[in-house]
Amino acid sequence: MRPEWTTRISFTNLRPLASLLSEDLAIDLGTVNTRVYARGRGVVVNEPSAVALDESTGEVQAVGKEAKEMLGRTPSKTRVIKPLRDGVIADYRVTEKMLTYFIQKAHQRRTLVHPRMIISVPSEITQVERRAVTDSAYRAKAAEVHLVEQAMMAAIGAGLPVTKPVGNLVVDIGGGTTDVALISMSGIVHARSLRIAGNHMDESIMNYVKRKYNLLIGERMAEQIKIEIGSAAPFEKPVTMEIKGRSLIEGIPKAITVDDSEIREALNECVAAIVSAIRVALERTPPELSADISDRGLVLAGGGALLKNLDKRIREEIGLPARIADDPLCSVVLGTAKLLDDFKLLRRIELD
Ligand SMILES: Nc1ncnc2c1ncn2[C@@H]1O[C@H](COP(=O)(O)OP(=O)(O)OP(=O)(O)O)[C@@H](O)[C@H]1O
Ligand SMILES: [Mg+2]
Repeated sequence: MRPEWTTRISFTNLRPLASLLSEDLAIDLGTVNTRVYARGRGVVVNEPSAVALDESTGEVQAVGKEAKEMLGRTPSKTRVIKPLRDGVIADYRVTEKMLTYFIQKAHQRRTLVHPRMIISVPSEITQVERRAVTDSAYRAKAAEVHLVEQAMMAAIGAGLPVTKPVGNLVVDIGGGTTDVALISMSGIVHARSLRIAGNHMDESIMNYVKRKYNLLIGERMAEQIKIEIGSAAPFEKPVTMEIKGRSLIEGIPKAITVDDSEIREALNECVAAIVSAIRVALERTPPELSADISDRGLVLAGGGALLKNLDKRIREEIGLPARIADDPLCSVVLGTAKLLDDFKLLRRIELD
């Protein structure tokens, strides 16, 4: 009988001692949130992608959670900037400042040797933006920087067997973009990035409330409504929520009550666009992979995957089982983190 405790050591997987002493980082540079995973410690930063700047001096006043808190509440000389928009880097100088801050925060001066960094970036990023991301990582003392694509990372993070010759369909609904990607044998067979995701849903709620009730609400209120009572298909029991804003008619603060069906109506256009992008991806799927998807269904990742009853709506409209990734907000960073220990796979899929 073969002993069960046989240990197999693969010498190809042994990494140089220097990198064992350093704390390698995996980073998800998202439109709404940035996350940093430190090897051996897990997710150490999970904060909004926001920076508060002093307009006159350009000095950074706050980054992340603290900067988001200031949104809509700043005096005239301070501006809160969200440097990524619609899945692309809108302001690369501010992105660089933000990335540098988060990397330093993740390290807390623990690292002995300069670390390796794997950074997942939006799929439609330009060469100039790639350089900006890479340069800021080097400035933050990276020894090596590798860039990978977010959709592929979402699939790995959700536990899909991306290296196998089977079709894997992942839908990552973030803040700026919805990325639909069909993956097989570590490659992307079909991918589409839709500039409709969480932020757009918030805007739709703001517009709806303004149009129907003449009430102006802020971005944060709109997001809260979406998270609490937003949905893609009806609930068994209706729910309501009190919302607050400024009346456009009286010009004073006012509270009203809205119900889930109204918010569903406000969100419908965004949800329909997401469902339609999935349908288009399926139409372009080669038959063998299509058969795999019909057996295995698709996986939803990103914060938007948490929109209530979205899985149900996809099932009803497309007829495919939809599974929500275990930790949808962290799928991308956890997928990226897996590459810290799989150099062979990293080589195969990293962006040039
Ligand atoms: N429970 C929830 N229901 C609906 N939406 C949610 C929920 N929780 C978070 N979200 C939304 O998810 C979005 C953020 O998701 P995520 O962090 O995956 O985006 P991101 O990675 O920063 O963006 P992107 O991938 O587009 O660059 C926000 O719009 C947020 O409002
Ligand atoms: Mg994302």
